[in-house]
Amino acid sequence: MINYPSLSPVESLSKQTRGRSVVNLASGSPDPSMIPLREIHGAYTQVISEYGRLAFSYPGAGGLEELKAQIKAWCKAIGVPAGGSKVVVTSGAQHAITLLAVAVAANRSYAHEDPTFPETLNSFRLLGKTPVQIPIDHRGAQLEILEQAFSKGKKFSAFYTIPVCHNPAGVNMSTDRRSHLAQLSVDHGFTCVEDDPYRPICPEPGEPIFSHSPKSVAYVGSFSKAVAPGLRIGFVLTANHRLANLVERLEQLDFSTSTINQLVLSRLLRSGAVSKSLEPLRSHYHMKLKAATDELVDNGLELVFKPAGGLFLLADLGVNAVKLLPKALRRGVAYVPALGFYARGRRKASGYARLSIGPASCDEIATGIRLIKKAILDDS
Ligand SMILES: Cc1ncc(COP(=O)(O)O)c(C=O)c1O
Repeated sequence: MINYPSLSPVESLSKQTRGRSVVNLASGSPDPSMIPLREIHGAYTQVISEYGRLAFSYPGAGGLEELKAQIKAWCKAIGVPAGGSKVVVTSGAQHAITLLAVAVAANRSYAHEDPTFPETLNSFRLLGKTPVQIPIDHRGAQLEILEQAFSKGKKFSAFYTIPVCHNPAGVNMSTDRRSHLAQLSVDHGFTCVEDDPYRPICPEPGEPIFSHSPKSVAYVGSFSKAVAPGLRIGFVLTANHRLANLVERLEQLDFSTSTINQLVLSRLLRSGAVSKSLEPLRSHYHMKLKAATDELVDNGLELVFKPAGGLFLLADLGVNAVKLLPKALRRGVAYVPALGFYARGRRKASGYARLSIGPASCDEIATGIRLIKKAILDDS
């Protein structure tokens, strides 16, 4: 039986809000004001004048060599040691994870964090079987529960994790758990799929799991938050060359990573424009996260986890967040009820909401949180 995905909670919310003027605390898009429009415009002009029509030819599987070289240098800038590993360019992290799910988890069991990001998990759900959920706490995935599963004889092909600025919880996995997880992947022969799109905007992302075991970890990077999600460029990095070759062959299924966008990103990386924006990005989102946290406290709303950075906070609204949503939308604010991010822990999550600090300004974030509070009071 094929496990076709339902619409993710984020997609279904954006359908409900399309065309409505509400404060958007729902979308995981980066802040539009941080997209380097002038530099992107300049890079398109430069690429078209240099390559002409060739910039619009088929890209070929696995990515353009010049971009792959730039991505390796970028990895160094964000603290990911890429030497000796292979890069496969993909259409964003989402595409990378779909290809990895085909490569390692098709028809096989897999494990993932609970909660997690349902849009990426959908590929595992569609292709894999018998998922095992590992709850998270303020230090990331609770690995003792993963170990208990192994001691009961369970085997997994893959463990999908978001160790930095988790979506939706906002936490970072602790350093000791990262090295422990890398060791478990070696000892138990599974691929750790390390989904790391928030590293470029995280103030202290720490060492990736990948750095402890580049052969058993498939590192997934993205330029959606550091440059622009519409370019649709991400990558897989692994020292498991057999896996990298397989992902590259699978990329022939769609050839979807645009040639011109690869050339444009390559120019942007080469010019230093992207690495120069790292510090401003990190302090910008840190400021917005603080504005959101302060406003939640002022309104007597609790955080489920203290976020380490990134775009998301998980707030406990103290009432059913799914039922409250229509009232919040009428008040003029959108959030995503967190229930859809949970598998096993659904009962406790009914009051939780994922709030995003991406598209809204600091003032809008504060207004949005006050409107949520008003909707809660209307309800009581
Ligand atoms: C954890 C996580 N993984 C992957 C993605 C998708 O990233 P991309 O735009 O590179 O496909 C997102 C997007 O919000 C995300 O939050």
